[in-house]
Amino acid sequence: MRIGFIDSGVGGLSILSAVRACIAADYIYVMDNRYLPYGEKSEAFIQSRLTQLSSMLINHQVDLIVIACNTATTQAVASLRQQFSIPFVGTVPAIKPAAALSPEGFAVLATPATCKSAYLEGLIEQFAPGIPVQKVGSSELVLLAEQKVWYGNNVHDAVEQVIRLSSLVDTSPLYIVLGCTHFPFLAAEIKSCLPDAVLLDTADAIARRVTQVVVTIDNPAKANGQQLFISTLELNEQQKGKLAELGFDQYECWSKPAEDYSSLSSPS
Ligand code: DGL
Repeated sequence: MRIGFIDSGVGGLSILSAVRACIAADYIYVMDNRYLPYGEKSEAFIQSRLTQLSSMLINHQVDLIVIACNTATTQAVASLRQQFSIPFVGTVPAIKPAAALSPEGFAVLATPATCKSAYLEGLIEQFAPGIPVQKVGSSELVLLAEQKVWYGNNVHDAVEQVIRLSSLVDTSPLYIVLGCTHFPFLAAEIKSCLPDAVLLDTADAIARRVTQVVVTIDNPAKANGQQLFISTLELNEQQKGKLAELGFDQYECWSKPAEDYSSLSSPS
């Protein structure tokens, strides 16, 4: 079994560790750091780029692709499922569990693109009809999670500033859905600003879903323990030094730019 993962940065590693804990397989993790943050890109750009990255992973003979990114899933998973025959497991904000836990309302902390997506609106209409949902979008938190994971930077004060400037401090919601895979890496900092909040993420639910899907795959690739990390911009030495700690034994840079980036990059 060979499983591919895609995210713009380190966020998908929060999903990868939950999946790895359940399934022994070859893993190929693609970090599209060339275009981080996805939360500031248009839907057309994300669809086109995810098509390109999925093709690359399919050339690496993956059996299944986990879109370990809420932004990419909300903008592109439907189009990927139309184009390719291999299964895609997407990552979407935990609206259904939040609605069950807190019918009086909750918040979703996600990227700006996820917050304004029709997909998120559809999830709210389907699973939380009539429930007040406060959407808070931030790309700053994405970049702070990158700094924390790669360099071990203390980002507490910067996270606190983002939270203080957001509407979350006024409403102090009891339940906050972490609708971006980068944000579980900032859970301690977010909790220290909002100590009463319960943070909901999707890593375990995705791992359960991947476990269900893998058993349906005929003739999976023969695993040899490969743990490959691919970035789309060359990692610096400090980042490369961190890869073993993150569970990777191979590294490649795949530097192909997005196709026709100029016409696709402006926010919709
Ligand atoms: N990790 C991604 C998500 O779950 C997106 C971060 C970005 O904006 O690039 O939405």
